[in-house]
This record gives sequence, C-alpha cells and structure tokens, in this order.
Amino acid sequence: MKKIILLLTILLYPVMALPGSGSVDEGKEVFRKYCAACHGSNGAGGVGVPLSLPSFIDHVDDAYLIKTIRHGRPGRVMPAFKSLSKSQVQSLLKFLRTWTGNAGMSFSAKPIKGNRAKGKNLFKQKCAACHGEVGQGGKGTGVTFSRPRGLPILPSALNNQGFLASATDELIKQTIVNGREKTPMPSAMKLGLQNQDINDLVSYVRSWQRKKIPAIKTAASDSPIIIRESPYDLATTLKNVKQAVIGANLILIRVQELDKGIAEKGKENKKQIIVYSCGFSFLYEALKIDPRVGLFLPCRITIIEDKGKVKLMTINPKRLSAHFNNSELDKLCEEMYEKYTDILDEATI
Ligand code: HEC
Ligand code: HEC
Repeated sequence: MKKIILLLTILLYPVMALPGSGSVDEGKEVFRKYCAACHGSNGAGGVGVPLSLPSFIDHVDDAYLIKTIRHGRPGRVMPAFKSLSKSQVQSLLKFLRTWTGNAGMSFSAKPIKGNRAKGKNLFKQKCAACHGEVGQGGKGTGVTFSRPRGLPILPSALNNQGFLASATDELIKQTIVNGREKTPMPSAMKLGLQNQDINDLVSYVRSWQRKKIPAIKTAASDSPIIIRESPYDLATTLKNVKQAVIGANLILIRVQELDKGIAEKGKENKKQIIVYSCGFSFLYEALKIDPRVGLFLPCRITIIEDKGKVKLMTINPKRLSAHFNNSELDKLCEEMYEKYTDILDEATI
C-alpha cells in the first residue's frame, strides 16, 4: 500500500506542479514580498505606477503582465524578476486579477502598419511633453525613491526595451485609444487622434525596439561572503586595505572597531575592525536601479585577527543582487564584485 502511494505521488507530482496550479494566497504573499514596497499593498501605486486601476489591469493581457514581471524595465526602477518560479508568477497573476475580478483583454500579436515619420511628428506634438522627446519617460522615475507619495503618476518610458519586449502593437494601440482613466494618460479622443494617426504612433514607438534584450545570469550559487587570509599582521593588513580602497577609486569613509557602540567605550576589541568605503557612482547607479539597495550601504570590509591569523571579509555583491532579483542590478554588482575581490587580493598579496 505504501509503495502504491509513493508511486502515485511520483506520477502525479508533475501534474501538481504544473503552471496554473498557483493560488491566490501564494500570489498575495509574493506580491507583498516583491511588489508592494513600490506598487503599494493594494496596488494603488507609490514609487511604481498603480496596478489595480481597472483602466490598467482590465486592459492588459496575462502575457503582458508575465513578460513585464520577467523583463522588468531595464534602466528604470522596475526590476526583472527572473528567479520567481512559474508557479509563483501564475499565483501572482491570479492575485492581480482579484482586484477587479475581470480576466483582462486578449490581443493579437499581429504587427500594426503605420507611417513612422508621421508618427514621429505626432509624438512630438501629442506625447513628448509627458513621455519625453524620445520616449524616455517622465522625469523622476528611475530616481523616484525621493519623490513624495501622492504626486501625480509619472509617465512610463516607452523607448524601454523591457516595455517593448512585453507589449504587442495591439496593446500599445488600445492604450492610446483608451488612455488610462484616473492617471494623466489621456485617450486618443481627448487628443483628437484618428485611427490612422494611432497606427502611425504605434509604428513610431515600435521603432525604438532593438532586436534582443540581453539575458543576464543570476549568481545565486556564489558564497554570501568573500574571505581572504592575510599573510600580514593586523596593522599592515589595515594599511594595505586602505591603500587598495583608494587605488580602486573608492572613497575611504572611516575605520572603526566592529563592536563600537556595542562594547563599553574604550573597551572595544581592537582586533576586529571595519573599513567603510564608498563608490559614489556605484551607489548612485545602484539606487537608481533599486532604491532598496540603500539598506545595505555603505560598503564595508571587515578585518579580524583570531589566534594570530588575520582574515579579511566582505559581503558578496553578487549575492546581494540575487536577493533583489533584478538582472540590471546583477550587472552592476558583478562589477562591484570584481572591485571587492581586487581590493582583498591587493591587500593580501
Ligand atoms: C523597486 C520598485 C518596484 C518593484 C519592487 C516592482 N515594481 Fe513594477 N514598476 C515599478 C515602476 C517605477 C514602474 C513604471 C515603469 C516606468 O517608469 O517606466 C513599474 C511598472 C510595472 C508594470 C507595468 C505597468 C504599466 O503601466 O504597464 C507592471 C505590470 C509591474 N510593474 C508589476 C510589478 C510586479 C508584479 C512586481 C512584483 C513582482 C513589481 N512590479 C515590483 C517599480 C517597481
Ligand atoms: C499628460 C501626460 C501624458 C500624455 C500627453 C500622454 N501620456 Fe501616455 N502615459 C502617461 C502616464 C502618466 C502613463 C502611466 C499610466 C499608468 O500608470 O498606467 C502613460 C502610459 C502610457 C502607455 C503605457 C505604458 C506602460 O508602461 O504601460 C503608453 C503606451 C502611452 N502612455 C503612450 C502615449 C502616447 C503614444 C501618447 C501621445 C499620443 C501619450 N501616451 C500621451 C501620461 C501621458
């Protein structure tokens, strides 16, 4: 009997794990964990645009949502969620659809033909004031972590490769036709656009698409910290680290004992030291990609002497970015990883 149950479990497992098996509850949890910080716990928007408005959620198809979640909006704040499982994404969709209870629209993938040159002209007249001269999006998104909530919703970047890879021509057309009620995005009627004008606009927007958006691998299997043993004593190692930090074009912020503020004043452990440093351009770029990075900064290198052995360690930025699930941040953290390992190697050579 036991054997039969085991066999059944093995046979049925693939069916049970099939996409589509996701649940609203799981989706709610995924949303709370990965999306709510930006889109608001009820999807009403914040740093990220509103998702729960009927003028948005009922007017996009599942494919657009899935692709948007997977590709993100490289160069904007919206991360690429590559490591969510299929079932997590399916659950998320089910949850997003509970906001209105409607299934959303479906669109044909057929390209729309239009006159690009005419579209370009129209874009300048009707759209550029909000979406930017070349569709780069409203000023502010990308660095909106400092923007107070409640400010008008910022126009998205239309020349964004993540957007263009996610939206069909038909979806773009419908968005222009309907606008997005309760956001600043006006309808075609309000803008006085005819059907052919809209087709021309769609073909102009599409012309911003490059062929492929590069896939970036995640680095989840790396160790969470980088460690090196130093052949030198503590004082020499510290001197080397300081030099290496400056040599790597980072700014040395301060050096302090690990237990400063925890241990009694004057009784800190002098054999456990943290070197704080910062690369402001890295910081700026990283915050633009994902404001939550701020929680982990500034960058520190810890030096510890234990039983005569000196060790250096630092958090692995690649592991940091795997946590954020943002492929753009991965690229930046890859560079930071190189920088950190260079510094540790330089200091211990
Ligand atoms: C760090 C902030 C942030 C997080 C986290 C985030 N988003 Fe976004 N999202 C944005 C921003 C900002 C935009 C608007 C893109 C632009 O400005 O070009 C956006 C856009 C979108 C869009 C496109 C909306 C439209 O109008 O077409 C969808 C769909 C979306 N996000 C879903 C999600 C989901 C689902 C999650 C969680 C898995 C998530 N986002 C997590 C910031 C975020
Ligand atoms: C008054 C400002 C304004 C004007 C003018 C405007 N838009 Fe928008 N547009 C927005 C805002 C804001 C959004 C984001 C709405 C949201 O949160 O769903 C948006 C969203 C969009 C989207 C969906 C993008 C996405 O990420 O889902 C498309 C496509 C679009 N606009 C195209 C156009 C075109 C083409 C024109 C000119 C015919 C135009 N817009 C004119 C403000 C504007």
